[in-house]
Amino acid sequence: MFNCTFVILGATGDLTRRKLIPAIYRLIRDKKIKNFSIIGAALPKKTKIEVLSEAKKFIKNYDSATWKILQTNFHYFQFDFHDFDRYKTLNKKLEAIEKKQKLSGNRIFYLATMPEHFSSITKNLANVGIVEKTISLPNKQSPWVRIVYEKPFGYDLKSSQKINRDISKIFKEEQIYRIDHYLGKDLVGDIALIRFTNSIFEPLWNNKHIHSVHIVLSENIGIEGRGEFYDSTGVVNDILQSHILQLLALTSMEPPKRLAGKFIRDAKSNVLKKVKLTSAVLGQYEGYKSEKGVKKDSKTETFVTAKLFINNRRWKGVPFFVKAGKCLDKKEVSIKIVFKRIKCLLDSCPSEPNYLTISIQPEEGFYLGMNSKLPGKYEVIPIRMDFCHSCLFGTNTPEAYENLLIDVMRGDQSVFLRRDEIEQSWKIVEQLKSKKLKVHKYKKGTNGPEVKL
Ligand code: BG6
Repeated sequence: MFNCTFVILGATGDLTRRKLIPAIYRLIRDKKIKNFSIIGAALPKKTKIEVLSEAKKFIKNYDSATWKILQTNFHYFQFDFHDFDRYKTLNKKLEAIEKKQKLSGNRIFYLATMPEHFSSITKNLANVGIVEKTISLPNKQSPWVRIVYEKPFGYDLKSSQKINRDISKIFKEEQIYRIDHYLGKDLVGDIALIRFTNSIFEPLWNNKHIHSVHIVLSENIGIEGRGEFYDSTGVVNDILQSHILQLLALTSMEPPKRLAGKFIRDAKSNVLKKVKLTSAVLGQYEGYKSEKGVKKDSKTETFVTAKLFINNRRWKGVPFFVKAGKCLDKKEVSIKIVFKRIKCLLDSCPSEPNYLTISIQPEEGFYLGMNSKLPGKYEVIPIRMDFCHSCLFGTNTPEAYENLLIDVMRGDQSVFLRRDEIEQSWKIVEQLKSKKLKVHKYKKGTNGPEVKL
């Protein structure tokens, strides 16, 4: 059971109410944290009750006893990131809370803010001494201080390199947690596991047997009141640079020395270096410009599809198609690996090739597309062999942010992004941006713009 203080900077934002508070709530409910406090800091003048009530609607299976513990341990601190004096006050408040609650001094700073604030917030925290270990524990163990940066990590390669340079002057790499919450999802953790623990897949994982790979992250929701953030970010920076390229790297990496943290990060980074984006289509849903916080003449893309190749022996000639967008026809996050057809020995050949689909959302599981005989006839029909995750393990699997917060408390960086992986991903985004593509319109609830890749 862990003991620490969470300092969430950006506590009135969408991420905090939708994901972070619900994740901490579940950690309390499942007794994974004990003796903790949360300081939520943000600009608006609000009470802690107001801040927490915004998160309440995102709590599933609400339980009043757990909520009460959360409420007692939550403190709201009105805070302007640019006002240096407020950092001093934050420091005093943090020390007072730690003393009063007899906390260990373990601290997690969570920057749920726009990336433009990462460097200055980190520097200011350091300048008031808040990131130093201030308490020595009776068992001689010093408390730890860790810092979490929400994605996107920068706006482009240059800005991400600058942030990395700035923060590495203050924190050691072991203290830095760059989040991509997709890596905390159980089924994303399954991608490499399926391939490397099943002898029926790994020998086929190459261009001799694989025809194409399709990675989809489609959402039926829009920008959900995050107009200002979204308009300065767009789907390429919000989703392609992180979630999609991580899914691609996990699917295509060379076998790591071991299926564990550092080795997987090495393998992902190596394969990202070889990615070449050949074509892409961008789109914006109709009505986007009337969303609150969006510029009336905005050219920000809410849809992207792209074709990429991996320039190595394993993947030469295999196209990777990726797609992500808002206000599409459905919520779907999946990776489909389509295998090459084998020589047909029938008069009426199978209509579908074999495929393996790893379904990350909304249904979790994976399925294998095969061909079988139609009962009573000598005809072939496509069938699906299913593994449904919730049927076997129930629906109470931990959510991504819960898993990730536990990893931060444990000091396990395996599923956080290393500097080189992020920089490689930005280089791929630069390939796309250099094409200066037109942004096509598409209707809400459709499959995106009617333009061919
Ligand atoms: C976030 C993006 O990283 O991921 C959001 O900023 C997006 O725009 C979200 O909606 C999707 O995550 P999930 O877990 O709901 O698929």
